[in-house]
Amino acid sequence: MLSRRGFIRIAGGGIILAAGGISLTRCDRMPAEAIEGWRQPGRGENDVRKRILSYAILAPNPHNRQPWLVDLNTPSRIVLYCDRTRLLPHTDPFARQIVIGHGTFLELLDMAAGAEGYRASIAYFPRGAFGARVVDDRPVAEIILRKDPNRQIDPLFKQVLKRHTNRETYDTDRPLTGGQINSLRGLKIDPAVRLNLTTGAGPLAKLRRLTTDALILEIRTPAKFGESIEVMRIGAGEIAEHRDGLSIHGPMMWWLRQLGMLSREAMRDPASKSFEVGLDMARDQGGSAMAFAWLTTEDNARETQLKTGRAYLRLHLKTTELGLAQHPMSQLLQEYSEMAELQARFLQVVGAGSGQTVQMLARLGHAAPAGPAPRRRLGDMIRA
Ligand SMILES: Cc1cc2nc3c(=O)[nH]c(=O)nc-3n(C[C@H](O)[C@H](O)[C@H](O)COP(=O)(O)O)c2cc1C
Repeated sequence: MLSRRGFIRIAGGGIILAAGGISLTRCDRMPAEAIEGWRQPGRGENDVRKRILSYAILAPNPHNRQPWLVDLNTPSRIVLYCDRTRLLPHTDPFARQIVIGHGTFLELLDMAAGAEGYRASIAYFPRGAFGARVVDDRPVAEIILRKDPNRQIDPLFKQVLKRHTNRETYDTDRPLTGGQINSLRGLKIDPAVRLNLTTGAGPLAKLRRLTTDALILEIRTPAKFGESIEVMRIGAGEIAEHRDGLSIHGPMMWWLRQLGMLSREAMRDPASKSFEVGLDMARDQGGSAMAFAWLTTEDNARETQLKTGRAYLRLHLKTTELGLAQHPMSQLLQEYSEMAELQARFLQVVGAGSGQTVQMLARLGHAAPAGPAPRRRLGDMIRA
């Protein structure tokens, strides 16, 4: 997650030379077992539900908390629950994003069922939807699988193993092409969700500024940023142990940790270099956006949040197909008081009407490819 610029800022040039000289490029790699889920999902599995679920758990989800629990006790049926130990109460107080992260899961599940020649009948909230502010222990969805020889494989399914959230600095010399923009505008998603896209210089400049300011505000708000720090997995050891959260690893990170310059404590301390690097990263990320895509809905019902997640997954698979990098920048959408003023300005810039909810906001562009994020074992998400 840390750029070379960030590393130089913390450590100074001498250490870079040393690192280059000793060639530590193999050190502190992403542990293979943490990303094994991305290699031939479901291979060797007899139960078709588990084969399908091995794909569904690759869905994008907030802070990579992987808040899914499934019950497989009835044959041909999957009951999906929210794992309430994996919520983000500070940055996602109403669990809106967590529910979106169930929608991404369901879309991927549906696509994987199609690839297996099954039709998935998905009932949302079969025992009633969660309230607007809390999640409870009722199921999010009940899925019944039936064989269907006529089911076509979704063309976007090919992109599933290549889709990765890309937090790099994007290439500001490479705008989106007309072809990419047209393909995105033509993307088919649930009619309850509207996809908006801007590449125009004026709105792009405003949104770059707003997304950067919002991320910086979050970093400067201890309770909010603290929630991200809690789920940061620093170094290969922590990543392999947890297989979730936000991974920080690689030779530069390893050096910084050895030098005592990268730690949870340093990230919390506004006087530290590490903290300044976080701010630089926010500027690089927001400032290098070459387009913004956002998903708007007319209401904020729980079902609509699920449909948003399904649309978001399709959008990310489409941008992957088009060779674009994508990175959600959710801070402006978050429902906490410190963000209210920036949020109001953002809603004005994008012309969101009263009653509408902007559910997702992501920057797009061209960038060096991102690697896969860890996933826990499917077995750890199955309810006994
Ligand atoms: C509802 C939602 C909100 C997200 N918000 C952010 C965000 O603000 N910043 C960010 O870096 N990633 C965000 N992400 C991306 C997740 O962190 C990412 O999906 C997760 O770490 C797993 O990585 P992967 O998408 O590469 O598989 C969001 C994802 C979802 C579904």
